Amino acid sequence: MRSSACLLLLFGFQLYILSVPVAANDFSSFLSANGSLAVVVDHEYMARHGQNIMAHFEKILSDIVRENLRNGGLNVRYFRWSAVRLKKDFLAAITVTDCANTWNFYRTTQETSVLLIAITDSDCPRLPLNKALMVPLVEHGDELPQIVLDAKVQQILNWKTAVVLVDQTILDDNSELIKSIAHESTTNHIAPISLILYKIDDSLRGQKKRAALRHALSHFAPINHEQKHQQFLVVSKNYEDIIEIGETMNMFHVGNQWMFFVLEKMRQGFDASTVTINLAEGANIAFALNETKTDCMDTLNCTIAEVSLALVTAISQMTVEEQSLYGEISDEEWESIRFTKQERQNEILEYMKDYLKSNSKCASCARWRFETAITWGKSQENRQFRTAPTRDARNQNFEFVNFGYWSPLLGFVCQELTFPHIAQHFRNITMDIVTLHNPPWQILTKNSQGVIVEHKGIALEILKELSRALNFSYYLHEAKSYEDEYASSQNTNESDELLGSMTFGLPYRVVEMIQGNQFFMAAVAATVEDADKKPFNYTQPVSVQKYSFITRQPDEVSRIYLFTAPFTTETWGCLVGIILVTAPMLYVINRFAPLQELQIHGLSSVKSCFWYIFGALLQQGGMYLPRADSGRLVVGFWWIVVIVLVTTYCGNLVAFLTFPKFQPGVDYLNQVQRHEEISQYGLRNGTFFEKYVQRTTREDFKHYLARAIIYNNGQGEDIEAVKRGERINIDWRINLQLVVQQHFERDKECRFALGKESFVDEQIALIMPSQSAYLHLINQHIDRMFRMGFIERWHRTNLPSADKCNGKSILRQITNHKVNMDDMQGCFLVLLLGFIVAVFVGCIEFWFYRLYVQSDSRKPTVFTN
Ligand SMILES: *[C@@H]1O[C@H](CO)[C@@H](O)[C@H](O)[C@H]1NC(C)=O
Ligand SMILES: *[C@@H]1O[C@H](CO)[C@@H](O)[C@H](O)[C@H]1NC(C)=O
Ligand SMILES: *[C@@H]1O[C@H](CO)[C@@H](O)[C@H](O)[C@H]1NC(C)=O
Ligand SMILES: *[C@@H]1O[C@H](CO)[C@@H](O)[C@H](O)[C@H]1NC(C)=O
Ligand SMILES: *[C@@H]1O[C@H](CO)[C@@H](O)[C@H](O)[C@H]1NC(C)=O
Ligand SMILES: *[C@@H]1O[C@H](CO)[C@@H](O)[C@H](O)[C@H]1NC(C)=O
Ligand SMILES: *[C@@H]1O[C@H](CO)[C@@H](O)[C@H](O)[C@H]1NC(C)=O
Repeated sequence: MRSSACLLLLFGFQLYILSVPVAANDFSSFLSANGSLAVVVDHEYMARHGQNIMAHFEKILSDIVRENLRNGGLNVRYFRWSAVRLKKDFLAAITVTDCANTWNFYRTTQETSVLLIAITDSDCPRLPLNKALMVPLVEHGDELPQIVLDAKVQQILNWKTAVVLVDQTILDDNSELIKSIAHESTTNHIAPISLILYKIDDSLRGQKKRAALRHALSHFAPINHEQKHQQFLVVSKNYEDIIEIGETMNMFHVGNQWMFFVLEKMRQGFDASTVTINLAEGANIAFALNETKTDCMDTLNCTIAEVSLALVTAISQMTVEEQSLYGEISDEEWESIRFTKQERQNEILEYMKDYLKSNSKCASCARWRFETAITWGKSQENRQFRTAPTRDARNQNFEFVNFGYWSPLLGFVCQELTFPHIAQHFRNITMDIVTLHNPPWQILTKNSQGVIVEHKGIALEILKELSRALNFSYYLHEAKSYEDEYASSQNTNESDELLGSMTFGLPYRVVEMIQGNQFFMAAVAATVEDADKKPFNYTQPVSVQKYSFITRQPDEVSRIYLFTAPFTTETWGCLVGIILVTAPMLYVINRFAPLQELQIHGLSSVKSCFWYIFGALLQQGGMYLPRADSGRLVVGFWWIVVIVLVTTYCGNLVAFLTFPKFQPGVDYLNQVQRHEEISQYGLRNGTFFEKYVQRTTREDFKHYLARAIIYNNGQGEDIEAVKRGERINIDWRINLQLVVQQHFERDKECRFALGKESFVDEQIALIMPSQSAYLHLINQHIDRMFRMGFIERWHRTNLPSADKCNGKSILRQITNHKVNMDDMQGCFLVLLLGFIVAVFVGCIEFWFYRLYVQSDSRKPTVFTN
C-alpha cells in the first residue's frame, strides 16, 4: 500500500513538473490523465441469467485494478442499460449482453470510437477482429456452431459451395449448427454459400451404414475422370468410413477440399496419418480436433476476471512504455509521435490478445486444433521416397501440420491457410522434369560443361508457364538416348541433316524415365497415339500438326494464245455468229427500205454489209449511216453490242496479262497419279502418317505409301529431284515450309509448291507419369493457356511462318474469270431486240409508203429527185 502510494505521488509529481502542453492530438495520453472505462451490464440479460453480475463485476474489477495497475490510473463507470451512448472521452467499454445488443452497441461505439470488449452469448457472429474483442460464452460441447460462424467471419473456409455431411444425432443436439453454416451477412462480408446438406443416419451399423455412406457420396463422385471442384464439411463419427469410401470413389483429388471434425470420443489416439493411409498424393484434407480441457473452470466470473486483467495489464504496460519514451525526448517530439486514440486502442487490443493467448485459463476451455495435410508434390520433395507408393501406405509422404487453433476468446488463430495447396499449389518445391533437345518443341542450350543454361521452345514455354501458375520450380534432366551419344560421337555431316522435327518417335529413354514416380512430368512434345496402351498418360494436346507434300512449282502457260484468253470458245463462236447474222440483217433491212432514196448504196450488197459490221466491231467507224429508221435501229443496237464486247475484252485482257496462268500442278494428293513425270514418292522416316495409313481407307494414301521411298537424311530427301519435278515428298507442312524457306534464302527463287491439301491431324501433347494425381490439374492449366492465347503465340514465335514464296503461290491460285455466255447473253439479247424493232419499223415504213406515198405519186405532182 505504501509503495503504490509512493508511486502515485511520484507520478503526480512528474505530471506537475512536465505539465504537458495542450494537445493537437485531442486525446490525452496516459501520462496526463487516467484512462476511462465503461462497464455496461445489461440488466435484462442479468435477469435472464439470474445472477447479479454487476456486483461481482465491480468487486472483481476493483480488485484487479488495485493489484495490477501499478502505473497510471483507470476511472471506471458502470451502466446497467445497454442502450447507453458513451461519450468520446471513453477509451474502452466492457459489455455483458446478448448478441443483438452487442452488435447494436458496437455500432454506437464505432461512431464515438470506443474500444469494445464484449462478453456475450454463444453463436454470435464475431465483431470485426481488428476493432473489438468479443468473448462468446460457449457452453461445453456446444462449440460447433460458433466455430463454423468464426470460420466464416475469419474466412478460414473460403467456400462458395459446400457439401455438408452431418450425423443425425449431432444435428439434433445442435439446432444452431445449420443456421450458422448458412449464415450470411453484409456487415461481416460473409457472402452467401450454396449448401447441400446430407444427414447421416448414425444409428445404422456395419454393412448398412457403409452402403448408406456410399450412396450419399456417390452423388458427388467424379464421373469419367472429370474432376469438379467440391468442398466437403464432415461432422460425423464415421469419418474414417467416409475417407475410406471416398477414396475408393476417387473423391480425394486435387480439386476437392475436405474438412473433417473429429468429435470428442474419437480424439484419444487420433493419428491423421493412419486415418488417411489410403489417400494418394494431391488430397486436400484437414482435420479439426477437440482439445478441450476437461478440468477447467468455465464461468462468467472467471471470464470477466480474465478479460479485465488483460485490459488492465495492457493499459499498465502502455503507460510504462509511454513514460520511458517520454523521458528520452523533448515535449515537441513527444507531441508529434504520441499515439492517437485510434492507435492506442489498436495497441491495447494487440496487447490483450497477446496476453490472452498465453495466459488465458478459463474462457478458452474449449479449444480445437486444426491440422491440414501438405501433400502436393511431396514425393518430388522427399527424394528418398521416390519409389512408387505402395498400397499399404500411399500417404507415406504426407505431412500434417497444425495450421492453427480455435478458442472462444480469440476465434481462429492461424499461421497457415486451411488448404494451402488450393491457393499456393505446389508451394515452390522443386520438381524433376525430363526433357530432350528437339527444336522447335524443346530447345536446350548448353555450356561447355554440358550444363543446360537456357531452355525454350513450345513445350518448355508451357512448362515455364505451368511452373509460374502452379508455384513450383524445376530441374531439367535431359533424356540422352544411347543413339544420340553414338551419333554425336560420329562426325555427322551437318548439311546432311533433315530440316524440321518429328514428334512421333518417342525415345525409349524418355519412356523409361517417366515410368515410376521419379519425375513430375516430361516436358517433351510427343504424338498422341494409342493413349490407352502406353505406360504413361498424355496431357491434353498442345498442338496439332498436319502433313502436306512438296512438288515443283508448275510452269507458266505459254502466252501465244493470250489474246484469246479473255473469252471462252463459246463466246468467240457466238461473236462470229452474230456478225454473220447481223450483216445479212442489215442488208435486208436496207434493201427493203421502201424508197430508193432511203437505201444506202454502200450497204447494197451482203459483202459490204459484212465489212461494215466488222469495221464497226473493231471501231473503225462506218462511213455511212442508214437513212431509214429501221436501218438505223439495227446499226444502233449493234453499236451497243460493240461497246459491251470491247469493254469486257479489254478489261479481261489486262487481268490475264497481270496474273499469269500456270499449268495444272498437284494441288491434291490424289492428282499425283495423273502426273507421269513424277516418278519418285518420298516420305520422311518416323512419321505418324505411316502409322495412320494402316488404318485409313483413303486409297491415295495407301497407293502413296506402297510406292514411297522412306528417307532419313538430306541425301534421301533428294530435294533436287523435287526441284526437277521428278519427285514428291510428304512431311509435316511446317518442315516443308522450312525447306522452301531455306531454298529461297539460298537461291532467291521459288521453285517449290506445297500442296493445297493438308491431311492427317497429328496431335501433340506432353507426357505425365501414369497415375499422376496432377494430370487433370495440368490439363486445366493448358486449357487456360489456350484460352489466353499463350500457346498460339508460342507457336507463332517458334514455328516457321508463312514463307516468302507463299506470296507467289497465292497469286497462282487466283483464276481469272473468262467471259462466258452467261455474261454476254444479255448483250446478244439486246441485239436481237434491236433486230425485231428494226423489222417492225421497216414494216411500218413499207406500209406507210404503200398507203400514202404511192397513192400520192399517181397524182400529177410527181416527186422528183
Ligand atoms: C486516477 O485514478 C486513480 C486511481 O486509479 C485515482 O486515485 C485518481 O483520483 C484518478 N485521477 C483522476 C483525475 O481521476
Ligand atoms: C470436446 O471435448 C470436450 C471435453 O472432452 C467435451 O466436453 C465436448 O463435448 C467436446 N465437444 C464436442 C463438440 O463434442
Ligand atoms: C462470482 O464471484 C463472486 C465474488 O467474486 C461470488 O460471490 C459469486 O458466487 C461468483 N459466481 C459464480 C457463479 O461463481
Ligand atoms: C508459392 O509458395 C510459397 C511457399 O509456400 C508461398 O510463400 C508463395 O506465396 C506461393 N506463391 C503463390 C503465388 O502462391
Ligand atoms: C522458390 O524456390 C526457388 C529455388 O528453390 C527460390 O530461388 C525462390 O526464391 C523461391 N521462391 C519463393 C517465393 O519462395
Ligand atoms: C559431307 O559434307 C560435305 C560438304 O560439307 C560433302 O562434300 C560430303 O559429300 C558430305 N558427305 C556425306 C557423306 O554426305
Ligand atoms: C492414364 O493411362 C492409363 C494407362 O496407362 C489409362 O488407363 C488411364 O485411363 C489414363 N488416364 C487418363 C486420365 O487418361
